[in-house]
Amino acid sequence: MDHFNYQGGVLCAEDVPLTRIAAEVGTPVYVYSAATLRRHFGLFRQALDWTDHLVCFAVKANSNLAVLKLMGDLGAGMDVVSGGEYARARAAGVPGDRIVFSGVGKTVAEMRQALEGGIRQFNVESEPELHALSQLADSMGVTAPVAIRINPDVDAKTHEKIATGKSENKFGIPIARARQVYAEAASLPGISVVGVDMHIGSQLTDLEPFRQAYTKMAGLVRALRADGHAITRLDMGGGLGIPYRRDNSAPPLPIEYGQVIRDTVGDLGCEIEIEPGRNIVGNAGILLTSVIYVKEGEGRNFLIVDAAMNDLLRPAMYGAHHDIVPVREPLPGTEVQPFDVVGPVCETGDTFQKGTQLPALAAGDLVAFRSAGAYGAVMASEYNTRPLVPEVLVQDDHFAVIRARPTVEEILNRDTIPEWL
Ligand code: LLP
Repeated sequence: MDHFNYQGGVLCAEDVPLTRIAAEVGTPVYVYSAATLRRHFGLFRQALDWTDHLVCFAVKANSNLAVLKLMGDLGAGMDVVSGGEYARARAAGVPGDRIVFSGVGKTVAEMRQALEGGIRQFNVESEPELHALSQLADSMGVTAPVAIRINPDVDAKTHEKIATGKSENKFGIPIARARQVYAEAASLPGISVVGVDMHIGSQLTDLEPFRQAYTKMAGLVRALRADGHAITRLDMGGGLGIPYRRDNSAPPLPIEYGQVIRDTVGDLGCEIEIEPGRNIVGNAGILLTSVIYVKEGEGRNFLIVDAAMNDLLRPAMYGAHHDIVPVREPLPGTEVQPFDVVGPVCETGDTFQKGTQLPALAAGDLVAFRSAGAYGAVMASEYNTRPLVPEVLVQDDHFAVIRARPTVEEILNRDTIPEWL
């Protein structure tokens, strides 16, 4: 459930008509609903209310400071994967002891930043990283809390570009080598082993891969405890999928996901961390865009909108589907026709959807891409020198621009022409 509904014939974000945002901010623009964010976060918390837990929002899904502040104020932790994301979480007021640091390529500078600023745990993904962290922490006279990311070799049954839990993926340490690496970690200075971490992929619409992976995790925790390690924390990663199509059967709910965690690792007495991103913010956001032209093609009509692949990369990159809906509510019985919905960028890949059934639309009409709150604005670029798409946050009947659209002048000012040219 989200808070984007038609009211009085106009699609609204909570109680704000999207026409108002388009008029005041222009298009394209991302629009997020605070109530939806709060609701989704609450569902995860509820799903784990049977145990000590921390819901760490995956910052990569949407890293706007206002979104992070909203989540942080609800008590969320943060899962970060770069020094930049760490800085964002801190700038949004999230204390270091609620931040976990994931990622296969943490640099020494990033690890230092987190050790100095405060960190709940590093999710370590390789032995070289473990050694680098040990050396650094030891030289700083501090101890780094560590969970080791285990690759359980489980097929997440999702898009190949976002599956991370198979042995051929670059992530984590093979489960067969886990005991050896934990033994090594325990012997290193500056390292305190606190837990086990896994993340098997994103947009999972079936609970079975989670069940398989977490069952393997439970077996490993027992083995590690027998080896003398005090495992007190389990990071289950993120990955629970969302419905991208309204007309389709819905993926499992957070409460069902929480039950899988309880069934598999619930008896180990560990504190549970999860790292959901998409499920919290995906359906809390839309990308609002205007029709520039309706162009008649050979046997097809193109709807050329002012959003493009640089603003919402997912369709071009993963062949992803986002429902496209008109902002003016079509009257019941309105005829629809197929459109290829495309952006202005000079690549055929800049196609959002082919043959989408929409009512007749004209230049200036507004349409919205749904389910665009996750991996939308964060993956945007200025390709074709299209100013970085702005973001708006709605709460009840008011809204604020939470990232302004840069002017072309600001963009040009970032470049420098060397004096010797
Ligand atoms: N934790 C780790 C270690 C991750 O790598 C990810 C996502 C998450 C948590 C959050 O997963 P989520 O709950 O959002 O599924 N750009 C792609 C998605 C990439 C996901 C990368 N890792 C897309 O647009 O579909």
